Amino acid sequence: MASDFAQRLIAWQCTHGRHDLPWQSADAYRVWLSEIMLQQTQVATVIPYYQRFTASFPTIAALAAATEEQVLAHWSGLGYYARGRNLHRTARIIAEKYHGEFPREFDDIIELPGIGRSTAAAICALAYHERRAILDGNVKRVLARYCGIAGWAGDKKVETQFWQQAEALLPQHDIAAYIQAQMDLGATLCTRSKPKCGECPVRSDCVAYQSGRVSELPTSRPRKAVPERHAIFLLLIHGNDILLEKRPGSGIWGGLWCPPQFDDEDAARDWFLRNGMSASDGVRLATFTHTFTHFKLHITPLKIQLARKPVRAAQPGSVWLDVEEALRAAIPTPVRSILNKLRRG
Ligand code: ADE
Repeated sequence: MASDFAQRLIAWQCTHGRHDLPWQSADAYRVWLSEIMLQQTQVATVIPYYQRFTASFPTIAALAAATEEQVLAHWSGLGYYARGRNLHRTARIIAEKYHGEFPREFDDIIELPGIGRSTAAAICALAYHERRAILDGNVKRVLARYCGIAGWAGDKKVETQFWQQAEALLPQHDIAAYIQAQMDLGATLCTRSKPKCGECPVRSDCVAYQSGRVSELPTSRPRKAVPERHAIFLLLIHGNDILLEKRPGSGIWGGLWCPPQFDDEDAARDWFLRNGMSASDGVRLATFTHTFTHFKLHITPLKIQLARKPVRAAQPGSVWLDVEEALRAAIPTPVRSILNKLRRG
């Protein structure tokens, strides 16, 4: 029964849920920020990022006034950088269109860049106490098991079933506690592997538990082989400085600073010669692998020590940065690892 499920979750949240997350009972700006950071990212990882971000950008107006560069520097290491770019764009839209006040209406919120149905609903439920269903990864797992929903959640028909159940189970009151309960249950008991069913407040009418299908549900995504790619990162070093280029556009690392990247060593050497640099021998550093959601990238850094800075590499979108400065810039995680390695010498 709908109300039963919700009531038991709310009661459980009261004694076993998380009550000390920094974005709990915060304003809509902070709820929005936390929800974006928490997409695909664990609470423990998010907390220090959230704290640094809100310290630097305490209001939407402050965020809108910042440069994209500053915002991405705060996002460095969190991954899925489109989230950071969209957050910044949205702050500017809110500053212009809503005088810096986070919009109050669901229909306006869902129009903003980077905010889908579930995130808009989470903001309305947590910040405005509106009665709305959410459907993130945790909630899907809880519902797949409790309601016995089989099939991959990325499938449109299955997704519709999830939304219907999520709506049907909503309580009349205490919506914020209920939403938080679903997330906390999914994160702490109803986990993907080794769920703690013995402690679950709704196991007595959980379809998966009662029919011995907890390990089968939720149905996982159809497995495709993860494509693997190779790349050379050309590390041009002059004294303590390294050459970095700003990645254009909206790609995975769009707006971030990276060493020049090539498909293979020949392409790297061509570029090197074309840019008027005389090749002393490069040193190949150990290849390492960075795993994205949809592919693996095997990165071989090729380190070349230059006697003088080539003029032609000083183009717009390129900078020479001291390694320490580079570590404070908007850089992705593998570049951070390489810089840390360089720093250690
Ligand atoms: N995941 C997504 N939103 C969350 C929240 N508000 N608290 C904890 N985990 C979450």
